[in-house]
Amino acid sequence: SASDRLVLTSRSPNNSVAILTLNRPKALNALSSPLFEQLNEELEKADEDESVKAIVLTGGEKAFAAGADIKEMKDKQYAEVYKTNFLGSWTKMSSIRKPIIGAVSGYALGGGCELAMLCDILLCTPNATFSQPEITLGIIPGAGGTQRLTHLIGKARAMDMVLTGRKINGTTAGEWGLVSRVVGEGENVVDEAVKVGETIAGFGAVAVQAGKEAVNEALELPLDQGLRYERKLFHSLFATADQKEGMGAFAEKRKPSWTNQ
Ligand code: HXC
Repeated sequence: SASDRLVLTSRSPNNSVAILTLNRPKALNALSSPLFEQLNEELEKADEDESVKAIVLTGGEKAFAAGADIKEMKDKQYAEVYKTNFLGSWTKMSSIRKPIIGAVSGYALGGGCELAMLCDILLCTPNATFSQPEITLGIIPGAGGTQRLTHLIGKARAMDMVLTGRKINGTTAGEWGLVSRVVGEGENVVDEAVKVGETIAGFGAVAVQAGKEAVNEALELPLDQGLRYERKLFHSLFATADQKEGMGAFAEKRKPSWTNQ
């Protein structure tokens, strides 16, 4: 039934943006295994659906997600978590080809902060709360909270957050580069994220996919290889109809009409 659904789905008015809403409000969207399984399913469905051009991922007003489910984890043993690759399925999200826009309101703690960092573009409210509080539980982050966070905000600030569990608000997250945009006081972060999604949905899907892929390679490759990767992808776009259309439309002073080919 609908109340069992841990991830709700809807669409933007023009249908081009899939909106996924974490729906476990009583546990502040603690990321249990069933929740993550449903999230992966919905992400994969959206990625396969031709009518979807971008994905918005959000939670509730009080919590985007308060972390991995502590009650589910607390009695687990090493051999079990190692053998089952506990929480390994979180990495599936990084194979989604379409842009994922995160909209954070309230708590993004531990795994919630890591989930936010798995998004491609991240928006938050000024008073959102970001933290990696794993140290307070006798562990460390396990889904990017020491790696992606360090890439985003630098070693000094990441070390501070990881070793002290320090909380930062959305405004600070914006200043530090943990998020792409901080919405204004009184603006709805989900609406703003959908607008970003609709903007992206207005461009050719092949170029959008290539842009996401190329930026992601910047985190994986040394600069010379990354630049070569970028150039290859750039060249490949000259094989698309959308490149002819986009440049043709500019020259003819008209709006382009993308075919996503
Ligand atoms: C399980 C959680 C939870 C969590 C909240 N709840 N966070 N359950 N796992 N991560 C549950 C509470 O137990 C409570 O259930 C209900 O949600 C409401 O929470 P309260 O604590 O009563 O709310 P409040 O007093 O407003 O405090 C909010 C809070 C606090 C500050 C966010 O809940 C909190 O500190 N949560 C834990 C945050 C945390 O440490 N996250 C990191 C987890 S480790 P009941 O049944 O009592 O109503 C992690 C590792 C990631 O994420 C590894 C990834 C690979």
